[in-house]
Amino acid sequence: MKSLLFGLLTFTLSIVTTSANPKGKDEIAKSPFGKLPDGKTAHLYTLKNASGMTVKLTDYGATTVSIIVPDRDGHYADVAFGYDSASGYVNGKSYFGATVGRYANRIGGGEFRLDGRVYHLPLNDGPNTLHGGTIGFNKVLWKATAAETAEGPSVTFTYVSPDGEDGFPGTVKATVVYTLLNDNGLRITYRATTDKPTVLNLTNHTYFNLSGNPGKTILGEDLMLDADNYTPVDKNLIPTGKIAPVVNTPMDFRRLTKIGARIGEDNGQLRYCRGYDLNWVLNGFTGKVRKAAEVYDPESGRVLDVYTDQPGIQFYTGNFLDGTEIGKGGVHYNHRTALTLEAQLYPDSPNKPQFPSSVLRPGQTYRQETIYKFRVKKN
Ligand code: BGC
Repeated sequence: MKSLLFGLLTFTLSIVTTSANPKGKDEIAKSPFGKLPDGKTAHLYTLKNASGMTVKLTDYGATTVSIIVPDRDGHYADVAFGYDSASGYVNGKSYFGATVGRYANRIGGGEFRLDGRVYHLPLNDGPNTLHGGTIGFNKVLWKATAAETAEGPSVTFTYVSPDGEDGFPGTVKATVVYTLLNDNGLRITYRATTDKPTVLNLTNHTYFNLSGNPGKTILGEDLMLDADNYTPVDKNLIPTGKIAPVVNTPMDFRRLTKIGARIGEDNGQLRYCRGYDLNWVLNGFTGKVRKAAEVYDPESGRVLDVYTDQPGIQFYTGNFLDGTEIGKGGVHYNHRTALTLEAQLYPDSPNKPQFPSSVLRPGQTYRQETIYKFRVKKN
C-alpha cells in the first residue's frame, strides 16, 4: 500500500515537475520547494519559452531562482544565483533573486518624515534600514497564479503587507508579474496600492553571472549604463543628495567597459562601497520603458539588456559575498562573482526631497516595468 501510494505520488509529481518539454512550445510546471518555518509549503514555478529559455521562480519572496539561457554555441547555463530549496531563502542574507520592498536599498538613519510625522524603521544595516527592514518582501510567502499567456508563460505574485509592517504606514497590496517572453526577455511588472500615505520602492535583486560559472568573478564582463550622472554616497552608503557627473570617474560606463578595469582605483566612492555599489541616474527618464544597461560576457557571448521605466539603477558587484552563502549545487558564492542591476527610485528618497518622489498615496497606483532580456553576440 505504502509503495503504491509512493508510486502514485511520484507519478503525480513527475507530471508537474518533469513533463516532456520539446523546444518550440511554452510550458509552466509547479512543484514543492520546501517547508517554511510556519509549516506552509513554498513552491517552485518552472517557465520555459518556445526557444528553450527556462526561468524558475518561487513564491517565497516572489523570487527568481534560476535563469537558464544559451551561450553563443547554444549551450544552456544558469546565469542567476540562488538556493536549491526554500530553506536557503529563509536563512539567506544576500537577497538572491528577491523582490525587494517596501523600500529597496537604504533609508538613512532608519527614519523618514511624511506629512509631518516621523516613522521609525528597524535598523538592519548599521545605522540604516536596508531593503525594507527585518521582514521585507523577500521573506514572506506570496500568493501565486500561473498562466499561459499570448506573450509567454507567466506567474502573478500578490502580497498584502499589513499597516505598520517593518514600521511603514499603510496596508500595501502589491502585485509582481513575471512573464517569460518569447524573445528571451524576462519582464517584471509591479503594481501596488495603499490605504494610507506611505513610501514605496520595489526592485528585483537577481545576481547575474553571465558566464554561467558561479566560481568565476564578473570582473571580465563588460557593462554599459546609460547614465551621465550618479548619486554619490557617504561612508554609510547613504546618498549625499548631490547628483554628480560620471565623466572622468570610474563610474563612467556610458560605453561598454570592463567591470574590473577601474574597480581597484583609488577613489573615495569605490572605497566606501568596496567596489561598485551605487545608484546611477538613468538618462531619458520620462516614465517610459527604455534601454538602461547592457552586460556582455566576451567568453560565452551572452548579453543581458536591461530595459526599465525607472529613474535609477543600483549596480552592485557582489562586494559583500564572502563564500559563506552556499547556493545551488553546494557552490560557495565568493567575492565579486555576480552583479546586480536593480531598477529603482534613488536610495534614501524619503529623506531627499530633490530626488524623484517615492510617496504613494491612497487612490494612486505604484507601477514599474523592468525587462531582463538575453541574447548572444557571435564574437
Ligand atoms: C546593496 C548592497 C547590499 C546588497 C545585498 C544591494 O542592493 O546596494 O549594499 O550589500 O544589496 O544586500
